[in-house]
Amino acid sequence: MRITVAVENRASAPLVAEHGLALLVEYDGMNILFDTGAGTALLPNLAAMGISPDGFDRIVLSHGHYDHSGALAQLAPRDLWLVAGAETRRFSRHPGVPVRDIAMPERCVTAIRSFRCHEVSAFTEIAAGVFLTGPIPRRSGEDCGGPFFLDAAGTVPDPISDEQAMLTADGVLIQGCCHSGIVNTLDFCCKEHPEIHINTVVGGLHLLNSGPERLEMTAAALRLHGVETLAALHCSGDGAVDFLRRSLPSCRICQPVAGDVLTF
Ligand SMILES: [Fe+2]
Ligand SMILES: [Fe+2]
Repeated sequence: MRITVAVENRASAPLVAEHGLALLVEYDGMNILFDTGAGTALLPNLAAMGISPDGFDRIVLSHGHYDHSGALAQLAPRDLWLVAGAETRRFSRHPGVPVRDIAMPERCVTAIRSFRCHEVSAFTEIAAGVFLTGPIPRRSGEDCGGPFFLDAAGTVPDPISDEQAMLTADGVLIQGCCHSGIVNTLDFCCKEHPEIHINTVVGGLHLLNSGPERLEMTAAALRLHGVETLAALHCSGDGAVDFLRRSLPSCRICQPVAGDVLTF
């Protein structure tokens, strides 16, 4: 299995950085684009790596935030897996900062009408050995909140219930932002597919502003599930990654950038 980091918050020249995530996953003869980034980096970075944007036959959307879906309008229609609600209008509100529209851009909402869209409502095998979680139950008590709202006034919280992760039969778990929480995600995968030992986690962990309790809970879950390799990307947070490095000395932890290729 090979994962090429196509879009990331950091990049090695000549690739460009962008607040977003896109991973090209090569697994058992299949090429899957997992997320697209926000739209400024995907095509230039693929070109810089000599990868055709027509070279992958499937796209998986982890959730509808603009930084994961924003390049969809630049791609030719093909099979697209997403969870219902990914096109929802949504906002973030941080103290002292104007409200931000963080939804899938309108041009992408329009574009995906031409795609063959597959709505994932439960754990689903989309190709041999490739599973999508669909919506992830939040049962652990993990603090998954954030400044996310369904209205610009910031009165209706957005649970980001359109989020899903991807799991392969050889135990690699791939995620976008992990708004559902890594504890919930690992537990759900383990419950649905106890025969798969998740040895590797790749993607955003959304631990940027997490307190000690959540960090401890995250480390405990990674330890409990026996995760041996963690490629922390995008919204994981440098401080959180440092904490996990200290807490999990036997786990290989890296922070890849756009242009890096991971093999498992
Ligand atoms: Fe994100
Ligand atoms: Fe997100």
